[in-house]
Amino acid sequence: MTRSRVRLGVNIDHVATVRNARGGAHPDPLRAALLAVEAGADGITAHLREDRRHIRDSDMDGLKNQLKVPLNFEMAATDEMMTIALRVKPHACCLVPEKRAERTTEGGLDVIVGQHHLQPYIARLNAAGIRVSLFIAPDAEQIRMARTLSAPVIELHTGTYCHAFDDGRTDEVRQELARLQQGAELAASLGLEVHAGHGLNFGSVGPIAAFPEIAELNIGHFLVGEAIFSGLPAAIGSMRTAIDAARP
Ligand code: PXP
Repeated sequence: MTRSRVRLGVNIDHVATVRNARGGAHPDPLRAALLAVEAGADGITAHLREDRRHIRDSDMDGLKNQLKVPLNFEMAATDEMMTIALRVKPHACCLVPEKRAERTTEGGLDVIVGQHHLQPYIARLNAAGIRVSLFIAPDAEQIRMARTLSAPVIELHTGTYCHAFDDGRTDEVRQELARLQQGAELAASLGLEVHAGHGLNFGSVGPIAAFPEIAELNIGHFLVGEAIFSGLPAAIGSMRTAIDAARP
């Protein structure tokens, strides 16, 4: 397989987290998204959560109306989100699990348990011309089910790997990287496009970007945090460099 350039999707959820801390309009996630695109983001990702803790409905409309790059709408597979997705018509919908109590998306979507609900749900999005991605753990049965459910894309959950990486647990890092690599290989062999994300930073991104099957990485929290120190364009530029360096 040839190593093409990996697309970088910048997740702007946590710009909205800071905005919402004061209830006003600043910092504006749309302004951050436009700046991210100027700095080299290939797409923008935003997660409209059920509880609207960061991104709001009006943010999704603004992003859709003003962005000239693909918008990746992360959402739970609920009726409410389907209605919004069909109105906003993003380039892609990434279906994620969502439990109100969790701080972020802690685990992958269980597409085996949810298969009967997901099959018609994915079919509706496919019929609307929205590219469906399933955010799943690098588990062979989950990946095979994603194929069965006719999702064209999976996004591999890198959270466990990133936690181990950040804590310096090297055996677990090796183990998780092997799982992710096998998952990426299996998915590509089934004809699925492979994305990855969650918890990635300048250090942990390289080994994931090095998998030849990876077409896109979605990164948010670290970039928004790093922007405090270096500014968003510099943070995105350094991430781009780290990704490209991993793909000789
Ligand atoms: N991909 C998916 C499906 C996610 O849910 C998230 C978190 O919202 C990310 C990528 C980005 O994770 P992070 O903000 O940790 O970079």
